Amino acid sequence: MNPVIQWTIPVVVSVYLAAAAQASEPVKIPAAAASCSACHGPAGDNPVSPDTPRLAGQERGYLAHALRQYRDGERRNPVMGAMAKPLSDAQIEALASYFAVQSGLTVKY
Ligand code: HEC
Repeated sequence: MNPVIQWTIPVVVSVYLAAAAQASEPVKIPAAAASCSACHGPAGDNPVSPDTPRLAGQERGYLAHALRQYRDGERRNPVMGAMAKPLSDAQIEALASYFAVQSGLTVKY
């Protein structure tokens, strides 16, 4: 085999594998998410009641927006207002990113 090709293939393959490993790394569960599962279900995918929305797979920007609105009193709900009150912007972003990548909302057909 041509020596250039002999060296190039493993280098290209290992760069590809490194990139693939990075891409599939799971988003870490934010500490603040522990309390959410009581109502929204583990990974936000199994709400306890019909008036509790499913968070899994919801748009990241939508989740973050909703949480900021609860926290800042623009969207009023006694339960979620209390849950969101102590959250920082960074915690809100982490929670929104986490729930957005969970599989939940799917199209059947
Ligand atoms: C005690 C039950 C309970 C807990 C705990 C709880 N939620 Fe909720 N959550 C609700 C209910 C009920 C609603 C619907 C409120 C409404 O009608 O606005 C809701 C709504 C939301 C929404 C709006 C979703 C949408 O589709 O508009 C988001 C986002 C959300 N919760 C995130 C969280 C996060 C993040 C946590 C943890 C920090 C959490 N919730 C903890 C009960 C809960």
